[in-house]
Amino acid sequence: MDYQRVARSGQVPDGVVRRFFVGEAEIAVARWEGRVYAMSNYCTHLDCLLSSGHATEDGLLCSCHGSVFAYESGEPVTPPATRPIRVYPVKEEDGEILVRLPPDAAAADGPRRRRLGAPG
Ligand code: FES
Repeated sequence: MDYQRVARSGQVPDGVVRRFFVGEAEIAVARWEGRVYAMSNYCTHLDCLLSSGHATEDGLLCSCHGSVFAYESGEPVTPPATRPIRVYPVKEEDGEILVRLPPDAAAADGPRRRRLGAPG
């Protein structure tokens, strides 16, 4: 799968996390100290949107219960989450943010309720 354009670089200023859609996949894109990161938008604890959280020195902070996920690996560095979020290769070219998503990103990295097919 090739890199796909997500946004203009200026749409994700330093210290900010935003939500974007790439096809049916929903991703969070954050920038910290100038570097851009892309990851699943769903917290592995209870599915809160990570784009509603905050970019911090330690990683991406989920605003619901305080889990922090490392930018590079997606590993939780602060509980209560115990499972990593999936991170995606990302680069910037000509003022644009480009992400390479795995083919199953929309299905595998969405909210667990949807993945399990439960109502609601
Ligand atoms: S849903 Fe993210 S820490 Fe609970």
